[in-house]
Amino acid sequence: MQNITTTLKKLFYLWKRSQVPVKKPIKISRIDNLIIFLVCVLISIISSYKLLLISPLNLADIFSWLWNFTEILIISGVLILVSKKENPSISSRQILLIITLLLAVQVTKLYFASSISPLSMIIPPALIISQGMGSITALAWVSVASFSWPDPAVAVNNNLFFILLVCSSVVSLLGARIRSRAQLLQLSIFVPIGSFLTQWILIGKDKISLINKQDFVLANGNIFSESFLLAIVMLFTILFIPIFESIFGLLTKARLLELADKEKPLIRRLSLEAPGTFEHTLLICGLAEEATRMIGGDIDLIKTGALYHDVGKLHAPNWFIENQDGSKNPHDEIDDPIKSAEVLQAHVDEGLKFARKNRLPKLIANFIPEHQGTLKMGYFFQKAKEKNLDINEYYFRYRGPIPQSKETAILMLADGCEAALRAMNTKASDKQALEVISKIISSRQKDGQLDNSNLSKGEIFLIKRAFLNVWKRIRHRRIQYPTGKNNTFS
Ligand SMILES: [Fe+2]
Ligand SMILES: [Fe+2]
Repeated sequence: MQNITTTLKKLFYLWKRSQVPVKKPIKISRIDNLIIFLVCVLISIISSYKLLLISPLNLADIFSWLWNFTEILIISGVLILVSKKENPSISSRQILLIITLLLAVQVTKLYFASSISPLSMIIPPALIISQGMGSITALAWVSVASFSWPDPAVAVNNNLFFILLVCSSVVSLLGARIRSRAQLLQLSIFVPIGSFLTQWILIGKDKISLINKQDFVLANGNIFSESFLLAIVMLFTILFIPIFESIFGLLTKARLLELADKEKPLIRRLSLEAPGTFEHTLLICGLAEEATRMIGGDIDLIKTGALYHDVGKLHAPNWFIENQDGSKNPHDEIDDPIKSAEVLQAHVDEGLKFARKNRLPKLIANFIPEHQGTLKMGYFFQKAKEKNLDINEYYFRYRGPIPQSKETAILMLADGCEAALRAMNTKASDKQALEVISKIISSRQKDGQLDNSNLSKGEIFLIKRAFLNVWKRIRHRRIQYPTGKNNTFS
């Protein structure tokens, strides 16, 4: 009996652990919720009002309308839930974008269903959503947009409906993975070509029955013009994606890679004014990238986040040890641990100011406070204790918040391990390096810094192995090759 209880407890624990994300979605204000709800109601009315136009109207028709209205309202709500599940930090603006696109499609369907192909109405918005909010949200959006169809224009042609679902699913799945504008351009050319060929094979041959069935004719010539229109709308969408990015705070892969460009003014400034911090940043990028790859996280996000995590040090570069080239240490000169702690905290506050000024997306700006969490500034706290100052530990802790995602948690761990690994002797064994890494990581764990990060024990184990692998590479680079007079090959 006891065994069964223990097994049940274990199963319950495993089930609880498998529920990702553990983190609750961010709260949305009442007024935003109301606006979102009203747009959903509008979508439901537009999608179902035709059922009320039947005359004479009887009770059964009203019930059928009510059923349709409620159904669409519920699936709009499910769509919002799915988007929140996939993007726990989704903002109300982004939810509004999803449902406004749905509204726009329903209105377009209502007025242009007889002249515009559903492909041109549904595939381009799916591209925007997949780029900004991921594949699952885009797929959910496609299902809602395709199924809540007021006119039976698509339903009568199963082949077209099938092509629509396949093309929009391809766009939804690839859209979230695309890493450059050039790939987007390729997608906007190949999807219309693919849709043209499949329409030609599946619908083109069925020309006669099609003309009988539908108002809008999809003969061979028209299939070409439909696909051509799709290509044009997709190209326009790509052109407008940067505008959507800035208005709705979308973080696409292409935007992430653009931000990771080391020629960006802020990063350029970091390399010129705080070269030590820049070097530290590059090393952290390597550590964090390897660890994120190991656990299957968002590599592009962490690479860009790592690049900006210490930009706040630009406010006073020489106050940070990595930028002091043997000259006087300003901390020694002021000899005031509390003031020194304030300077350290300022690198987070100033970093957030830089992020605002440079319009960095929120997901990137989050790396600035979260990489320090509420860590204790041990060195200065110890100094204050030595001076017998009447001190509260609170003044020697960063103000947080603690890491709220796996990526920011990995960055915190990489930040902690970087200096220790850099300082390690090249002759140190793998076991010694792993011990150093484990010590730093478990101290962060014990301090409660990883509590909200949702990192599992297994993932922490993988992160340690990843850091060790990077250290092995660093060690290999630092070992000097014996070069003789005539030995100049590499
Ligand atoms: Fe920092
Ligand atoms: Fe750092």
